[in-house]
Amino acid sequence: MRKRIVAGNWKMNMDLQPGIELATGIRDYFSNRKTVADIVLCTPYIHLAILKELLNGSNIGYGAQNCSAETSGAYTGEISCSMIKSTGAGYVIIGHSERRTLFGEGDQLLYRKTKLAITTGLKVIFCCGELLEERKSEIHFNIVKRQLEHGLFGLDENEFKNVIIAYEPVWAIGTGLNATPEQAQEMHSYIRKLIDGRYGDKVADETTILYGGSCKASNASEIFSMPDVDGGLIGGASLKKDEFCAIVESVK
Ligand code: PGA
Repeated sequence: MRKRIVAGNWKMNMDLQPGIELATGIRDYFSNRKTVADIVLCTPYIHLAILKELLNGSNIGYGAQNCSAETSGAYTGEISCSMIKSTGAGYVIIGHSERRTLFGEGDQLLYRKTKLAITTGLKVIFCCGELLEERKSEIHFNIVKRQLEHGLFGLDENEFKNVIIAYEPVWAIGTGLNATPEQAQEMHSYIRKLIDGRYGDKVADETTILYGGSCKASNASEIFSMPDVDGGLIGGASLKKDEFCAIVESVK
């Protein structure tokens, strides 16, 4: 059985103190509740070292939202995979649409980051998804195929086992307009077929594929009930404790 995961993507939100309060609230809520889904908090870098102590002994994982493609050295302002790993973090998001569009990160760079993150021992939450114009011109499958082929499929099978895919249609991110469960299922099943074609059906069956884009407590159950949707990558709704905890509990 593949893992079900609900990951929060805090983006550039939460100063130190409110971040500590949010993570503590989530930890305490789940301290005596079992969940079907694994929980991951992807926070700004400033929280990572603190989360090591704060989440110690809990079943909540944590990670970063980006990393450098270089190992170390004169790259002012960058954060390396090994720095992230050294905080005890287990995950890094790579290829989020905001990194692709606002920071010009392309397939080749994202592949280098992914490869390095995995070599360093991190699990990668790799994002893919099409723009609204791309869906309207019905090239959304081709776009996602290109993102996966160029950004991921150079990995060998053992490396690929450390990848979690997040399908996030860009038109759904932060817009309040989520994909329908059917639209999510259709793309997730297509992604699983691509993985099957590259790595075989066993790996495809074991790969966790998350949906992201305006996922909230009120629509999560319906989206997560689709057979190829294994949980979610949650932006805005991960900043509110009650909302995020309810989304985690929507994975049945
Ligand atoms: P959203 O963001 O839930 O606020 O739409 C999702 C994401 O960007 O990961």
